[in-house]
Amino acid sequence: MRIRTIAVAGTLSLLAITGLTGTAQAAGDAAAGEKVFNKCRACHSLAEGKRMIGPSLNGLFNRKAGNAEGFQHSADMSAAGAKIDPWNETHFKAYIAKPQEYIGEQIGKPKATTKMVFPGLKSEKEVEDLYAFLEPYFKGEKQGK
Ligand code: HEC
Repeated sequence: MRIRTIAVAGTLSLLAITGLTGTAQAAGDAAAGEKVFNKCRACHSLAEGKRMIGPSLNGLFNRKAGNAEGFQHSADMSAAGAKIDPWNETHFKAYIAKPQEYIGEQIGKPKATTKMVFPGLKSEKEVEDLYAFLEPYFKGEKQGK
């Protein structure tokens, strides 16, 4: 589909092509997202209940922030979880782009102090791709390592 878009837009300027693909709400690329997940693997498992440095991300959508069973969360993370809905697509994408700021926003601080030492994903494409890869695990439909 992307190739066709580019072919159709072939006579348009590069700027126009960038504009077209930029505004399209294209779903992320799960294969690319699996590679983005390499940034998370050291700390997060995709197997249900398997804690590492961070909690397992399997079944994430069944819980609120900072409520993974058997995991000692930071106070800020749990405080945020008490104020917002259980994890969903919108929350996750906002969180992973700017973890400390997003959690801070929920509890009235500029930046939260959480145990996740990760600055966030700067690229929107990385966020979309990562989400496409992780969604079935978040929903508990798939088991990983
Ligand atoms: C250096 C280790 C580390 C890295 C790298 C890391 N995380 Fe985390 N993550 C944690 C820890 C520790 C927590 C628990 C934070 C707390 O309770 O304060 C956490 C929490 C989370 C949560 C909330 C879990 C819950 O049950 O509320 C999500 C979602 C998450 N991480 C996703 C990711 C993703 C996706 C990546 C990669 C892009 C990533 N993390 C990278 C350590 C890490």
